[in-house]
Amino acid sequence: MPFERAARLKLLPPYLFLETDRKKRELIRQGKDVISLGVGDPDLPTPSFIAAALSAALTEPAINKYPLDNGAEEFRTAIARWYARRGAPGIDPATEIYPLIGSKEGIAHLPLAMVNPGDAVLIPDPGYPPMRSGTLFAGGIPYLLPLRRERGFLPDLEAIDPQVLKLAKVLWLNYPNNPTGAVATREFYAAAIEFARRHHLLICHDAAYSEMWYEEPSVQFLSLPGAKEVGVEFHSLSKTYSMCGWRVGWVAGHPDVVAALGDLKSNLDSGVFMAIQRAATAALEHGDAEIERIRTVFRRRRDLFCAGLAKAGLDVTPPRATFYVWTPVPKGSTSLAFCTRLLEEAHVVVTPGNGFGAPGEGFFRVSLTSPEERITAAVERIRKIL
Ligand SMILES: Cc1ncc(COP(=O)(O)O)c(C=O)c1O
Repeated sequence: MPFERAARLKLLPPYLFLETDRKKRELIRQGKDVISLGVGDPDLPTPSFIAAALSAALTEPAINKYPLDNGAEEFRTAIARWYARRGAPGIDPATEIYPLIGSKEGIAHLPLAMVNPGDAVLIPDPGYPPMRSGTLFAGGIPYLLPLRRERGFLPDLEAIDPQVLKLAKVLWLNYPNNPTGAVATREFYAAAIEFARRHHLLICHDAAYSEMWYEEPSVQFLSLPGAKEVGVEFHSLSKTYSMCGWRVGWVAGHPDVVAALGDLKSNLDSGVFMAIQRAATAALEHGDAEIERIRTVFRRRRDLFCAGLAKAGLDVTPPRATFYVWTPVPKGSTSLAFCTRLLEEAHVVVTPGNGFGAPGEGFFRVSLTSPEERITAAVERIRKIL
């Protein structure tokens, strides 16, 4: 008996890459050596001291219980200390921090806690898809803010239609940015905070890549004066500590928003497994040296890849943060046509920029989540077909 899906699922934009995915699977089935630079899932193992902390926690009595509510105090305290070391002291672990089952669920659920049907939500475009889908599920109206190369992939807040601003409740920002690899300055954040105050907007900052910087440390949104009065930040252990599958992150900032998301979540899930909270605590308390090591690996990959691509004649800008390289496709091609050629002729998987939103057309995204020898091989293959 067929069943119709709920109308809200039909609001989601169509998935553009069914055919490319099919081609990739077919090449792999044929035994071809396909190099995957598509997904942002680090290939490095989770640092062993974090895995050891998980193992040790598993034998503790009562570790198996429902974690419930805002979870382990020691984890929230470690998060507050982590921020304090990064120039944002004074975040209250009791009321201003809440663990998440990975930041994706928090990002997708935030609108259910804060957005009423008909409220506008300002979303960077290209951007991380759950910002948009979560808004649609809550009955909000996504208003897309184009990120353009000539503006350093920062949105032009003053260009937002005043009629939209009247309806707007939330402004999403994400720096260091996926997919463009762009970083934001203190001046940009300060202007965004002032803008949010002026228009009574809640800034939701997605900082999943804040530790993946190469030249100078990322500006921490919550370290800016007034940030906590207008905003919250979503954070993740996935990228920094190679813990994508562990599903652990947090939201921090404005206590009303943290409490609202917490109330919503207590009706949806029962928290992050306590043993994972223990391991995440260890990561935050003892992981700074490890992050530096991981950063060194990605910096080398970035330099290798970008130098190779530049030699091949592409207009590549090495990212100052994130493990994504966002590059214009050769003149005369489209994102999809170029990425399909790379797949079919070079057996290299990269992501067409328009998959992240219409302003991404004309770009492709490379994720440097493969070992150096694979990156070198990918550059060689790309060079041959250009
Ligand atoms: C921009 C951005 N934000 C958030 C996330 C979510 O990370 P997680 O749910 O693993 O914490 C991702 C994952 O790819 C991302 O790219």
